[in-house]
Amino acid sequence: MPKQANKTIKKIGVLTSGGDSPGMNAAIRAVTRKAIFRGLKIIGIQRGYQGLLEEDFVEFGPRSVSDTIQRGGTILRTARSEEFKTEEGKKKGAEICRKHGIDAVVVIGGDGSYRGALALSHEGIAVMGIPGTIDLDIACTDYTIGFDTAVNTALEAIDKIRDTSSSHERCSIVEVMGRNAGYIALWCGVASGAEDILLPEKYDYDEQEIINHIIESRKIGKTHHLIINAEGIGHSTSMARRIEAATGMETRATILGYMQRGGSPTCKDRYYASIMGAMAVDLLADGKGNRVIGYHNGEFMDFDVDEALAMEKQIPEYQYEVAKALSI
Ligand code: F6P
Repeated sequence: MPKQANKTIKKIGVLTSGGDSPGMNAAIRAVTRKAIFRGLKIIGIQRGYQGLLEEDFVEFGPRSVSDTIQRGGTILRTARSEEFKTEEGKKKGAEICRKHGIDAVVVIGGDGSYRGALALSHEGIAVMGIPGTIDLDIACTDYTIGFDTAVNTALEAIDKIRDTSSSHERCSIVEVMGRNAGYIALWCGVASGAEDILLPEKYDYDEQEIINHIIESRKIGKTHHLIINAEGIGHSTSMARRIEAATGMETRATILGYMQRGGSPTCKDRYYASIMGAMAVDLLADGKGNRVIGYHNGEFMDFDVDEALAMEKQIPEYQYEVAKALSI
């Protein structure tokens, strides 16, 4: 159980952790401005939990976040800290917070970052998680900051690849990010009209099925074939070689990579980040801690960190079936 018990919050720290995502700056801005609006002090903790351990702090004022809402990446920078994962690291992090009078920490990141937040809350620091990841793989929320920009960035690239693939009558495999989750692949696959969408949650590694699909598609008049492959499956280049050998259709693989994490956030990412950032501060100021913000069934809500981490998320079966039906 968290040791924090409705302590009055006077100073909040904010950090970004794990992979960056477009919209994180809008969230930092919202946390900063809402904290100041409510008469609280706000400390920017640079380079995630590693920066916390190294006391890499900067006191923020309202102008510290000016001109950032439209910028990709994170002005606080981010890191994956091995030291913070240790018991000593977590204790040290909480002690440093106490030393600097930081009563609460807002953590913007994914599941891994939430686990760090949970550890801090066990050490008596109030925490509030904001879902920031392009992967959309946080179970307690239908929306994660950065996903919308990432899928739109990927889609723009896929459309371009489709143009050339169609001119050359080729098969194109486009690999998108998502770690072990297939949400980016599913959305990009449906939105680009892909013939095959390979998701780690669904793919049975039956390559013959893809090969047969290509051969059948050509028989019914399709002149090119687009496959969206998720990072969690990977091996797009060797897959392309095997498909070309088996079908006789020229096949090219493109791995989109880090371009999907950058760029100016979409309106949707900025909006959700702004609301979630403000809400994180309001909840803390109103005496809540050990929570994460989510968006579910059309509403912004908050969940206990432990409960949020225990939830499971699955690819919606109907949406996956729709993707198959529309590629005939
Ligand atoms: O979680 C976001 C993400 O971009 C994943 O899609 C990807 O697997 C991972 O981060 C890459 O992480 P890194 O920046 O450490 O290479």
